[in-house]
Amino acid sequence: MKNLILAVAISIIALSCNQKLKSEDFIGASPNGTVTFNFSLDQNGRPYYTSSFTGSAVIDTSYLGFELGDGISLNDGLSVLSSSKSSFDETWEQPWGEQRLIRNNYNETRVELANEQGVKVAVIFRAFDNALAFRYEFPEQEGLKDFKVVDELTEFNMANDQDAWWIPAFGGNRYEYEYAKNKISELNKIHTPVTMEGNTYVAIHEADLTNYSSMVLTGNGTTKLKCDLVPYSTTDPTKAYLSAPFSTPWRMILMGKSAGDLMTNYTVLNLNEPNKLGDVSWVEPGKYVGVWWEMFVNIGTWHQGPKHAANTDNVKKYIDFASANGFKGVLVEGWNYGWDGNWMGGGTKFNFTKPYPDYDIDELSKYAADKGVYIIGHHETGADIDNYDAQLDDAYKYLSDYGLKTVKTGYVENGDTLPNGLYHHGQAFVQHFQRVIETGAKHKTMIVAHEPIKDTGKRRTYPNMVSREGARGQEYNAMGGNRADHVTILPFTRCLAAPFDYTPGVFDIKVKTRPGEQVWSTLTRELALYLVIYAPMEMANDLPENYEGHPALQFIRDVPTDWETTKVLSGQIGDHLAVARQERGTENWFVGAITDEEARTTTINFDFLPEGTTYKAVIYRNSDDADYIDNPTGYTIEEVTVNSTSSIDFNLCRAGGVAISLFKG
Ligand code: NOJ
Ligand code: CA
Repeated sequence: MKNLILAVAISIIALSCNQKLKSEDFIGASPNGTVTFNFSLDQNGRPYYTSSFTGSAVIDTSYLGFELGDGISLNDGLSVLSSSKSSFDETWEQPWGEQRLIRNNYNETRVELANEQGVKVAVIFRAFDNALAFRYEFPEQEGLKDFKVVDELTEFNMANDQDAWWIPAFGGNRYEYEYAKNKISELNKIHTPVTMEGNTYVAIHEADLTNYSSMVLTGNGTTKLKCDLVPYSTTDPTKAYLSAPFSTPWRMILMGKSAGDLMTNYTVLNLNEPNKLGDVSWVEPGKYVGVWWEMFVNIGTWHQGPKHAANTDNVKKYIDFASANGFKGVLVEGWNYGWDGNWMGGGTKFNFTKPYPDYDIDELSKYAADKGVYIIGHHETGADIDNYDAQLDDAYKYLSDYGLKTVKTGYVENGDTLPNGLYHHGQAFVQHFQRVIETGAKHKTMIVAHEPIKDTGKRRTYPNMVSREGARGQEYNAMGGNRADHVTILPFTRCLAAPFDYTPGVFDIKVKTRPGEQVWSTLTRELALYLVIYAPMEMANDLPENYEGHPALQFIRDVPTDWETTKVLSGQIGDHLAVARQERGTENWFVGAITDEEARTTTINFDFLPEGTTYKAVIYRNSDDADYIDNPTGYTIEEVTVNSTSSIDFNLCRAGGVAISLFKG
């Protein structure tokens, strides 16, 4: 699909070093003035910035800078060499996504600095009406060729000790934690996005993480959070090895009046470069099922043996089900050599071109194609990136030879380091991840990555990088469980980074093959998750036999995964959320509303519908006697007629939900 540029306006005012620089040169504001910032140097030549939203301070004096090693410091003693200002306004089209047209409108201030030895670094600020972002550029220069980052000194000194929703960093389980809420002054080492509540809702994250290390934030008992880059390896504390010229990822502060405002803030995409792949019509959003949940509920195994799930007959069963119900893909895990023995944290044996003997890939890929679906490949690496890198091109060629248009990758290990001692979120892994994206693009393969590097908006540049895990997903409901409020937090935290392969859709909530355990949700909330958690490739995770004959499956059949627009109707982090989305290419709308472990009434106003048009609403709501513990599968399907003046109250049970399909006419 073409990149539609509706309007572009650029203006540049440059000040060179021989002109006198005034402090107001570094005061910036977003196009409508909502977001303002100030950049300056203190009396010791230390650079700092502040920022406000609608006149209220959000960021107090926060220092910037670097320690580069070899005695090079960009911490103090800096002076301004030059500065320039520019503005930008364009509306671009996503090839697929949660919002088709996105406006990218900002005012930019660029300040070039030098230390006393003449080493240069520039800071570029972009003020959007709903965000402030900045990055550093190391220009090409004599005094800085190959260099290393010992520490990035960027601070986010919050003006208020806001409540923050966070997950721990360096905790040994990557990003796979339940969220906690604490004051900023109580935080230690945390991942981004971190989302803060208050008069202004704030989320801090990074955009365009390329050839650099991931940004963790560290608290110190005050309202100050400092950038704490992930080290290279367990034996090398260096944060990044760079060569000038180099631009760091953007440091991004989203701001809004409500939690819902953050959800429809697309700054992370605007801060990435436009599509580099040209025609990406081969990237097709859709839904999939898979030989997957059965491994979590004790029915099948990844490894060989009597319960080996990836066998030809079993996969045909999933293909038949997918074909009969409009799913595009069938994920097959455990298909290749490497799963026998201890693969977790040591995937040396994984072979990405050698199927197990009971998995007939020739027959299955033909069988799938005849039925109008395709198999989704699986590359579990056990985090052995060396083994994966060595096979990368062959592995992706193999996928494309067999018509496997999508691959799910995985990097499971024990701890935060890879088997070779590299950090899971350090520079080397970021570089590996980039090689995978580019190899996938070369072979026209869409990638759904598990245990990934956090999403920083790469899908804009590489639209084949469709979605990621990078959070505690559905799988944990078969491994001890996620709290009932988990899915009311994710859309305001992890999902701000972009699509999440949460894999919703459990119908057998009490999980009959795992007696005594259950998913802390209800069947209709599982339906509503297709709206509140966005993913272009959206799974229906349960077993075919748990869907067969279930009228509620119709909702999953109907709900699309590619949207014209997204509207947040109401929401509070950790409590409840209601989202409406319009299908791309039609006038159909879909609504999903969920609650946490508290029952509550949610009112859906249908004023997002076009005026004067009647819609058939198919409502999938929890039944009056439903409850996530006593009766999680109780539901009622109703059809009513609505228009833009309609409003309906829904009584959501504990961990309840409602999902609505709205068909025009
Ligand atoms: C963890 C992934 O999140 C899960 O989806 C996958 O099934 C296992 N690793 C095995 O690859
Ligand atoms: Ca995982």
